Amino acid sequence: MKTRITELFGIEHPILQGGMHYVGFAELAAAVSNAGGLGILTGLTQKTPAELAREIARCRERTDRPFGVNLTFLPTVTSPDYPGYISAILDGGVRIVETAGRNPEAHLLRLQGAGVTVIHKCTSVRHALKAEAIGCDAVSVDGFECGGHPGEDDVPNLILLPRAADELKIPFVASGGMADGRSLVAALALGADGMSMGTRFMATKEAPIHENVKRAIIGATELDTRLVMRPLRNTERVLKNAAVERLLEKEASLGRKIRFEDIIEEVAGMYPKIMRDGDTEAGVWSCGMVAGLIRDVPTCKELIDRIMTEAGALIRTRLGGML
Ligand SMILES: Cc1cc2nc3c(=O)[nH]c(=O)nc-3n(C[C@H](O)[C@H](O)[C@H](O)COP(=O)(O)O)c2cc1C
Repeated sequence: MKTRITELFGIEHPILQGGMHYVGFAELAAAVSNAGGLGILTGLTQKTPAELAREIARCRERTDRPFGVNLTFLPTVTSPDYPGYISAILDGGVRIVETAGRNPEAHLLRLQGAGVTVIHKCTSVRHALKAEAIGCDAVSVDGFECGGHPGEDDVPNLILLPRAADELKIPFVASGGMADGRSLVAALALGADGMSMGTRFMATKEAPIHENVKRAIIGATELDTRLVMRPLRNTERVLKNAAVERLLEKEASLGRKIRFEDIIEEVAGMYPKIMRDGDTEAGVWSCGMVAGLIRDVPTCKELIDRIMTEAGALIRTRLGGML
């Protein structure tokens, strides 16, 4: 399949793996890229730029196909060493960066000046238009369904994607709720040039996370996610568990007085315990509603091949047959 996204990134299939904290290591990113999609390492999961440089080298040992690095610009007081991370990306020869969170404008010139293609993740049309205006090459449009941070507008992809298509000139991928060939065909029909998946790629053989996490995703339905940190306007969609229930009770009881420090225990620094050690109840962790569509743990190649076969059949047979 050829779309503006396959052309832009030099990949075989219009399928991206979104950056995921403590999930987007070399094993997963390389497996996605080797399967013809675009794998993405999660920059800030590496504690220092030097560790990111090592992770890029580990990914390069595993694939000679294009892969990217996610740089999430967090609303934190003490900023990570972004210039250092960017040096690691450029020195490592990475040519694709997925930015997310805050506006990436301050870093665009340096990245694009070095030949990097930048795709910015947005949860609203206005942010996507801003990304286009500042010169991003593409955007990833994340609907309300998505795992992680869906923003505060709560617009699902059935509305958000055609709205984005109406307004944007640059290519974009649909993100949030994407799982299979049906998702891809729907995303293309709604105006996207491909799709990006997070939660679905967690339940793959190569995702270097604990089996308990994969089992939790498979066991979950579309009713099992919750939105936390809404009162702080830092909403995150997570899989419900005991820690999430505790957090939501705290949010309800503290009401408008709530500060980040009140909930830090539940939300900060828990990912290694969950993703690496498999203690899925240790804290809150991102997961999309799409868990309800995930029933197996294929390899990335099996997953991507299946998506492309299903999408082809849908377009040729089901849709074509209706005409
Ligand atoms: C466990 C997990 C961790 C994530 N961490 C990040 C992150 O560090 N930076 C980021 O930009 N997006 C992050 N995301 C969001 C994904 O890149 C992607 O946008 C989202 O998962 C898409 O929705 P889906 O899960 O329905 O496919 C994370 C998602 C999950 C599930």
